[in-house]
Amino acid sequence: MADRSGDLSPWWRGGTIYQVYPRSFQDANGDGVGDLAGIRERLPYLRALGVDGVWLSPFYPSPMADFGYDVSDHQGVDPLFGTLEDFDALAAEARRLGLRLILDYVPNHTSSEHPWFREHPEYYIWREEPNNWVSVFGGSAWEPRDGRFYYHAYLREQPDLDWRRDDVRERMLGVLRFWCEHGADGFRIDALRQTIKDAQWRDNPVNPDWDGRDEYDSLIPAFTTDQPEVQELVRQFRETVGERLLIGELYLPIERLVAYYGSGLDMPANFHLLSTAWGAAEIAALVERYEAALPDGAWPNWVLSNHDRPRVASRTGQPAAAAMLLLTLRGTPTLYYGDEIGMTDVEIEPGREQDPWGGRRDPARTPMQWDAGGGFSAAEPWLPYGDLRVNVAAQQDDPASLLSLHRRLLRARRDFALEGYETLAADGVLAYRRGGFVIALNLGADAAATQLTGEIAVATDVARAGEHVRRETVLGPGEGIALRVP
Ligand code: NOJ
Repeated sequence: MADRSGDLSPWWRGGTIYQVYPRSFQDANGDGVGDLAGIRERLPYLRALGVDGVWLSPFYPSPMADFGYDVSDHQGVDPLFGTLEDFDALAAEARRLGLRLILDYVPNHTSSEHPWFREHPEYYIWREEPNNWVSVFGGSAWEPRDGRFYYHAYLREQPDLDWRRDDVRERMLGVLRFWCEHGADGFRIDALRQTIKDAQWRDNPVNPDWDGRDEYDSLIPAFTTDQPEVQELVRQFRETVGERLLIGELYLPIERLVAYYGSGLDMPANFHLLSTAWGAAEIAALVERYEAALPDGAWPNWVLSNHDRPRVASRTGQPAAAAMLLLTLRGTPTLYYGDEIGMTDVEIEPGREQDPWGGRRDPARTPMQWDAGGGFSAAEPWLPYGDLRVNVAAQQDDPASLLSLHRRLLRARRDFALEGYETLAADGVLAYRRGGFVIALNLGADAAATQLTGEIAVATDVARAGEHVRRETVLGPGEGIALRVP
């Protein structure tokens, strides 16, 4: 950890967050599924990598219809992942190593196996007649049950809670308090934009621009997402967690996204890099638009892949340039496990799909590749490994590896993490200034020249470190340099 004495900004501003998908990080008990004890074993790896916070996707008791995002007890640990004692041990070890723990808080829905769904059906959303609302995973969002219909924004096994009710709020805020007492340093709030629905149950308008693919996109979710009362909810979350980090999962246009700073989110998660074309002009335009939209005092953040989207290495084909982009833009980066070694989407054999969304998210959720044999589990892993030539052991001591590049970038960024951002070029090469550094990235398919002067501090091609660039330099496709400038 950097010495932050005298620096009053919270740890996460200059820091980096690393997302662990617990099923796939490390299996300590040999059942083919990752667990909390496994994550604990690997904390020294994360410490050496140089990240600051570790976000754990859900590990709570769950029937696993949506791999843990269908929670049946918010205040426990699923036996598959271990016990509450294992969690406490993990939290203690993280603290010892100076790593912060961020938990996934799933307020929008519970599992249909949650005791509340039986004992307190009134906690959920029921209607006599369905309207046209569609589930994110496709099909009507209304499920018939005993002559009525309940609403589920996701799977029918994930009924939505009614957050307009005080008793629901009180019980779910209790969940936050529980994990604060168990040492959580922050929360990533799942499906935040969906938590409050239109009080008049109006039909969502038809989307005239629908591309005919996902049924969910056939409507504009005007009455099912981003309702004004969501902000009020965030204020309550903020009051409950004090100064702990609050990240909100919010797939929203930039202008709507940034409105959430005002209600107390530290990081309305910025997913716009996930859907922006991989090119200098497009990315520069996005960064400028986002920077301009940020309210005073708001701190930016960036995401390049996660457990719901394709891996960045597969999507861009330029994992080194992508790493340099993510770790040098202004704002807190969230790094997805395995991206630091260049894991790609793994093709799943027909019949072996796991993800209830037609298997589409499995390719990005495969086991972490620790060594040439896999090293994730003594048993057959729940999803197959990808190309095992891509592994931590092979890259660990190789200065030219993607893993070493991540370590160098994570170290170097401490010198400019809190500095401003200024675009210098966006034609072929994307170049920008961060304090005393200039970053230049060739995101194109051909070599490109760029006008710069300075000393290369970090380069995707390790052989270029220390090189003095005078006026002009050529970058190959996917090549990036960070220069210390005069
Ligand atoms: C968003 C999560 O990231 C995703 O994995 C999950 O399926 C939905 N929310 C529902 O909880």
